[in-house]
Amino acid sequence: MKIAVLMGGRSGEHQVSLRSARYIMDSLVEAGHTVLPIGITNDGQWLQHPDIHAMLSEGRDLSQASNVFLDLSFQGQGLMCNGQPLDIDIVFPVLHGPFGEDGTIQGALELAGIPYVGSGILGSALAMDKAQMKAAFRNFNLPMGSYISFYQWEWQEGRRELVRRIEERLGWPVFVKPANLGSSVGISKAAREQELIEAVEEALRYDYKIVVEAEIRGREVEVSVLGNENPRASLPGEIIPVNEFYDYKAKYIDQRSRLVIPAELGDAVIARARELAVAAFKAVDAVGLARVDMFVAAGGEVIINEINTMPGFTAISMYPKLWEQSGISGPDLVNTLVNLGMAWHNRRLQLQHKYEENS
Ligand SMILES: Nc1ncnc2c1ncn2[C@@H]1O[C@H](COP(=O)(O)OP(=O)(O)O)[C@@H](O)[C@H]1O
Ligand SMILES: [Mg+2]
Repeated sequence: MKIAVLMGGRSGEHQVSLRSARYIMDSLVEAGHTVLPIGITNDGQWLQHPDIHAMLSEGRDLSQASNVFLDLSFQGQGLMCNGQPLDIDIVFPVLHGPFGEDGTIQGALELAGIPYVGSGILGSALAMDKAQMKAAFRNFNLPMGSYISFYQWEWQEGRRELVRRIEERLGWPVFVKPANLGSSVGISKAAREQELIEAVEEALRYDYKIVVEAEIRGREVEVSVLGNENPRASLPGEIIPVNEFYDYKAKYIDQRSRLVIPAELGDAVIARARELAVAAFKAVDAVGLARVDMFVAAGGEVIINEINTMPGFTAISMYPKLWEQSGISGPDLVNTLVNLGMAWHNRRLQLQHKYEENS
């Protein structure tokens, strides 16, 4: 197949996306596919060039790259470059965070009728917004920690009351997060009122919706999920962060955070983590792939933290490493994802969209 790989993007996870795209493109080529790399710059331009990956990664001059446009008409020309359709079979949106993992790109591709890998508009959007994600988890009675969410304007108007409620309901310390982001950007831990105020101000730089959570003490484990209607869960892996928590530095800069694959846990805990991973996948209407992140408390209780519909995807990332552990190599994995994307697209094509008044 001819596969357009979208990479970069407008979010703070631009560089992370480029790293994931490198691994995914190499795996697709190894699986026998033709890859068409399409870079999205930090300011949102779509560009095509055989070296676009290196150009974006190394901050090179982009003047030789050509603009890519998307014809939004259903079954129209699709992706276009220099006035010609690019004639691709499917898009692999390797984008993390807002404007990519949140349903925006999915919506555009949906309008154009182009098949793509991964979750659709709803699943992507629900999983991106930590407040709505928790509401979806709650609907499925998944075990979660306590939290409070609020908007910027509520904070501005009623800060004192919010601080009081946080202290009363969550205790200290708390984790303060922008609702829509990833890679730990804008997240801080606050142990008292002054730190909370600073943490909220920091998070408000990234979103107008904030989630504050009680601290969960436990080991951090992650499970990879793969499939459409009957998704499979991998064995869990464990993260041992170098920093106080798994912040941006611990994730991408400091190389000392460790992944333990598979996690050393008892059979009952492993079974529970896998069961919850599939339940979380279903709770947000995910499609194709997701990584579900959890905490395992000292007593073995498993608590859900979050789900990511386009998890980090490099040779050293948890998502592909967990599948490798189960005997699914990188090329097998991306091939499966492409097939799942095609299958989902075909399933949706069969739906009737018009109501026939006379039938
Ligand atoms: N409620 C919590 N209790 C303890 N640690 C937390 C909590 N929330 C987040 N963390 C820490 O912060 C990291 C990033 O938070 P997370 O919600 O996963 O955000 P992101 O979507 O940016 O990955 C987690 O991996 C964990 O180390
Ligand atoms: Mg996380």
